[in-house]
Amino acid sequence: CGIVGYIGKSSAPSVLINGLRRLEYRGYDSAGLAILEDGSVVVSKSPGKVASLHDKAREEWPEERFGSAHVGIAHTRWATHGPPTEANAHPHLDQSGDVALVHNGIIENYRPLRSRLEAKGHHFYSDTDTEVLSHLIGDVYSGDLFQAVCDALSQVEGTFGIAAISSKEPGRIITARRGSPIVIGVGDGETIVASDASAIISHTRQVIYLEDNDIAVVTAEGVEIKDLNQVPVTRELAELGFDAEAAEKGGFEHFMLKEIHEQPDSLRNAIRGRLDFNLGSSVLSGMGTSARDLAEIQRVVLLGCGTSLHAGLVGEYAFEDLADIHAEVQQAAEFRYRNPLISRSDLVVAISQSGETADTLAAVREANQKGAFVMGLCNVVGSTIARETGRGVYLHAGPEISVASTKAFTCQVAVLLMMALKLGRGRRFSRDEGMRLAQEIDAIPQLVERTIEQNDRIAALAERYAASEHAFFIGRGYLFPVALEGALKLKEISYIHAEGYHAAELKHGPIALLEEGTPIIALANDIPGKDKTLGNVEECRARGARILGVVTEGDKEAAEFMDDVIEVPACHPLVSTIPSAVALQLFAYHVARIRACEIDQPRNLAKSVTVE
Ligand code: G6P
Repeated sequence: CGIVGYIGKSSAPSVLINGLRRLEYRGYDSAGLAILEDGSVVVSKSPGKVASLHDKAREEWPEERFGSAHVGIAHTRWATHGPPTEANAHPHLDQSGDVALVHNGIIENYRPLRSRLEAKGHHFYSDTDTEVLSHLIGDVYSGDLFQAVCDALSQVEGTFGIAAISSKEPGRIITARRGSPIVIGVGDGETIVASDASAIISHTRQVIYLEDNDIAVVTAEGVEIKDLNQVPVTRELAELGFDAEAAEKGGFEHFMLKEIHEQPDSLRNAIRGRLDFNLGSSVLSGMGTSARDLAEIQRVVLLGCGTSLHAGLVGEYAFEDLADIHAEVQQAAEFRYRNPLISRSDLVVAISQSGETADTLAAVREANQKGAFVMGLCNVVGSTIARETGRGVYLHAGPEISVASTKAFTCQVAVLLMMALKLGRGRRFSRDEGMRLAQEIDAIPQLVERTIEQNDRIAALAERYAASEHAFFIGRGYLFPVALEGALKLKEISYIHAEGYHAAELKHGPIALLEEGTPIIALANDIPGKDKTLGNVEECRARGARILGVVTEGDKEAAEFMDDVIEVPACHPLVSTIPSAVALQLFAYHVARIRACEIDQPRNLAKSVTVE
């Protein structure tokens, strides 16, 4: 979900709606805004996207309101409690209608709180936990919104990033966080509160990130921050490292296509300055460990969700094959609910584009508590996981707006390869081998460029598969995670039922589903295991499947097995995961485009999921 709050000299409704557009990728089931006008709170809400809210507000509200309102809060929602209706959209008001609240996260004890308030005569109009919190704030309000928010939050269990206003105190917004990010942009005579910096960047680059249990009074002149016990705290002013343009489509039809095309540059940024060709190693100062500490690492545990989990799977192979270190991937959501056997000699790598995914964050906290050596591998600078891990490596991929992750994935894999190179040089391979691998990694941006050159060809191939209702992606070894990621990309944006399988596993069940023409997308690059994969392709062909093969450039033999082929450049087997994934990103994109899907904002999904 996305939060924006504004106080300053400009038109609050316009700033809020523009801010929501920037945040829409974080959730887009419904949207709403509340502003202060002549001593009262005025609200407009709408199911659906921010554009519907904009049309509705323009229709309902007099023109003057757009010019005269200078304080407000707004929200775009990814439904957790209750369907995406107008009633469930935020902001929510308290019983008196004087307080308005927007909220990300989950109030876990909202049911008992709701019953208690109902017994006191409160009426609720929505199914949401947020409305309960707004009523609670109203209930304890006695002339000071800051105090009321503190009192209310001391009664809630769960997670929140909130912004609240009161018609009785038009000069301020109160914002607080626990587990759900809040960043405050400090401009010239205006202040913007948001759940992520993309809503702020067109106003100012000066920002303050709230920490958990911070609560802030925001005025047009600045910010005053305390902890929930009301002890003042100091948070540094930081400068955003990207400009507004990076968050625009720049001539591409979709953010996803733009981000696919950005990959050569984002990979260059992820790799730049991090390879040491003389030593045949990598320089990842953010790992923050001495050579001795690195030598003591016995095991690497990789944590993530979704696409980041798939990057972790490539990392698992890389650490074992390049560095002789036992590595395993764990689904972040499972980590703290099993008995994670973690010790001080474990390196835990939390992989998260946004750095905010609740499941991954909870796993980080668990690993920290168990005394592991925890590192973040995040894209968003200053994000919660980046800060709580304290050490790690940023991707530098630039803002990723499309819900389907592309450039973050390839940069994650590139960084994991560099980490494995660093650890491998201390253990497994020689300087010469390290130098060769460093060169292979350095060449990744060109490999991706050459893959992207095939965009038109892949678009034409996609026509042949776009009408399918099912698809299977198969691969083995390093390419097995790529098969999982290829299937995830296709299903999330085209709604084709797609499954990624280990090539060998297909015959143990899924092969029963093959019919004449069922698409099999086979990753059959020329790497160890290729012949076996080609054998599995044969098994599928014999059952009438239509095969789209990803093969190494010039590999005529492999191409013979396929109905259609996409070629990717020859390279180190581990490195080949990256151009192969790019080819499948383009394939998924074009299939979804042909099917006229909402590519950047697929139904039911959100870019950053801050609830467990
Ligand atoms: C959401 C997104 C996925 C993403 C996953 C993990 O589900 O829709 O695209 O891979 O979260 O996100 P993270 O920011 O932790 O990498």
